[in-house]
Amino acid sequence: MQNMIYTNCSVATMVKGDEPYGLLDNAAIVVSNERVAWVGKSDDIPVEFTGIEREDLDGKLVTPALIDCHTHLVFGGTRAQEFEARLKGASYQEIARSGGGIVSTVIATRSATDEQLIEQSLKRLDDLINEGVAVVEVKSGYGLTIEDELRMLRIARKLATLRPVKVMTTWLAAHAIPPEYLARADQYIDEVAIPGLRKGAAQGLIDAVDGFCEDIAFSAAQIERLFVVAKSLNIPVKLHAEQLTDQKGALLAAKYKGLSADHLEYLAETDIQEFAASGAVAVLLPGAFYTLRETKLPPIDCLRKYNVDIAIASDCNPGSSPLSSILTAMNMACKEFLMTPEEALTGVTRSAAKALNLADDYGVVAAGAIAELAIWDLKHPAELAYWIGGSRLNKRISPLVNI
Ligand code: NIG
Ligand code: FE
Repeated sequence: MQNMIYTNCSVATMVKGDEPYGLLDNAAIVVSNERVAWVGKSDDIPVEFTGIEREDLDGKLVTPALIDCHTHLVFGGTRAQEFEARLKGASYQEIARSGGGIVSTVIATRSATDEQLIEQSLKRLDDLINEGVAVVEVKSGYGLTIEDELRMLRIARKLATLRPVKVMTTWLAAHAIPPEYLARADQYIDEVAIPGLRKGAAQGLIDAVDGFCEDIAFSAAQIERLFVVAKSLNIPVKLHAEQLTDQKGALLAAKYKGLSADHLEYLAETDIQEFAASGAVAVLLPGAFYTLRETKLPPIDCLRKYNVDIAIASDCNPGSSPLSSILTAMNMACKEFLMTPEEALTGVTRSAAKALNLADDYGVVAAGAIAELAIWDLKHPAELAYWIGGSRLNKRISPLVNI
């Protein structure tokens, strides 16, 4: 990428401070060696940068490129029939217990070829990229054998070679109990989740370890055995916690210094202080809340009270959140969770970067960060959460995009 001074823009830097959105009007951004070298008022560009070429951004809005820190976007098939069944009264748990749910996607994913999975996943990834997303987390969890789980992560990594996006891969073998291990969850953890984690780690395929801590999936004790191995391999953990019931998953994530606990509708307020002390991010997933017609809100005021960083993600998956739009997730966070547009944007930039252990490089427009910028045909950053449908992305400025 070329060294450049971008002038005549307003920048939502998303740097924590007094100004909402870290907003700078009449701003300029100096990009040098693929990093932001300086950002500030156009009138104050330091003399040391005077030789660098300039591009006028015509008053446009600049934000950090967006980050989707929780997706399951590699999968086969759809679950549109379950959507229909739920509308007729079946619950997500009932469908899962009767052999549908995640397990039905496992069957579709196992039987799809690599090429089919890549083709279907790219469509969802392109939806995100078209909305200014530069970093996407992708979980395994629809293979549920060692080889099928590793294949999902390989495919996720492959996507990053086909598109201008950074992919972070998460080992989610503890997502559901496959039919061949019915009523033998402990054995599944011992024979698949743990040895597969070791194998994937040895192959450098795993950036983080996740689990589904729920009465229809794995207990906190079962997940803990996996986390012990993750820690011994120096791989950070995170957890699907308190989505449908309170299993004390957030506290388990906190105990293992997790990057995040995700969903959290049923998180008890009395557990939040301890969770906050761990420094983990609360990743809220309004697409799942919306799709499952959940009515119990995550304890947002209490998370705010204890200064927990809150991220927002699409949770793109065929069951609980068939959503490949991070902007719609932001809108839902405002409408469903009464978060502010500023909190929603923080949730897909600075806090999402923290949830992926990438806070040094992504999520803010600040000196030292990677020059991953989204340029919008919008006047004010609140518009990112305000519009429903469509994308006003003008372009990305990125070391990954040749322009
Ligand atoms: O984040 N809760 C567990 N996993 C996904 C749903 C996966 C599925 O239903 O296929 C989630 O909601
Ligand atoms: Fe999820």
